[in-house]
Amino acid sequence: MSKTIRAGVMGWPIAHSRSPALHGHWLRRHDIDGSYIALPVRPEDLPAALRALPKQGFAGVNLTVPHKQLALDIVDRVDPVAARIGAVNTVIVAADGTLDGTNTDAYGFIANLRQGAGDALARYLAGPAAILGAGGAARAVVVALCDAGVREIRLVNRTRANAEPLAELARQSGADVVLIAWDVRADALAGAGMLVNTTTLGMQGAPPLDLALDALPGAALVHDIVYAPLITPLLAAAQARGNPIVDGLGMLLFQAQPAFEAWFGIRPSVDADLRAAVLAARV
Ligand code: ATR
Repeated sequence: MSKTIRAGVMGWPIAHSRSPALHGHWLRRHDIDGSYIALPVRPEDLPAALRALPKQGFAGVNLTVPHKQLALDIVDRVDPVAARIGAVNTVIVAADGTLDGTNTDAYGFIANLRQGAGDALARYLAGPAAILGAGGAARAVVVALCDAGVREIRLVNRTRANAEPLAELARQSGADVVLIAWDVRADALAGAGMLVNTTTLGMQGAPPLDLALDALPGAALVHDIVYAPLITPLLAAAQARGNPIVDGLGMLLFQAQPAFEAWFGIRPSVDADLRAAVLAARV
């Protein structure tokens, strides 16, 4: 008799996660005897919830706010990319019931850029990358860009103290780093090959990102990791002046790909059907 493979996403709150729709689509597409559910877990309950996974038949879970950093101290092994990012977004139950922690966000970011930019990616990476924000998402973006070979990173963040550890991460990962104050953020754009917004500005319910794009080269790629709305005011402004753009939904879709493969044994594809299914999900 086959045994249903279980997986899910732990967060607090978790009701608005799109991950069940995403993994559910792949489970149906590949006709897998598996399930993927939203698991509301309070931060204080995370150690017990993770430890209980093997005996509950789970192959693993994704972690979202506020668990990604906490999990570093709970899992049995943290792989190098999760250690560099400083967060675990995917837990895999090993055959002996121990827990591996990894992070697929950097992969998700670069795989999405590669799909959106195609052969032009090397050209975008050749110029300095201007990155707005220094939170958890920015750490994954910095790791991904440095590993893909970017030479210079211009970090722009409202709070300088928060940008400093990220600057150190970028230097350790082989990039030159320039820190730019939030008040003069447009200074990051001259000659840039790429602009990435990792702040929450422009998200539904958040203030818009106030940034004049005049100094940005017309050939620079503009990427916003915000995906609600899909076309943020930043992406609309970039598109209007002819810059190539990549929206943020793909990062969410691609970060799920290696996790799904680790749990369910099939590497699923990210395509238009999946995008439509995830966008249509009522969350
Ligand atoms: P995530 O983990 O999704 O990246 P986060 O860790 O809360 O989220 O980071 C949010 C980022 O958006 C931070 O860089 C934050 O800047 P600070 O380090 O100064 O807090 C940035 N951010 C949020 N609201 C902002 C605002 N109103 N103006 C400028 N930056 C803002």
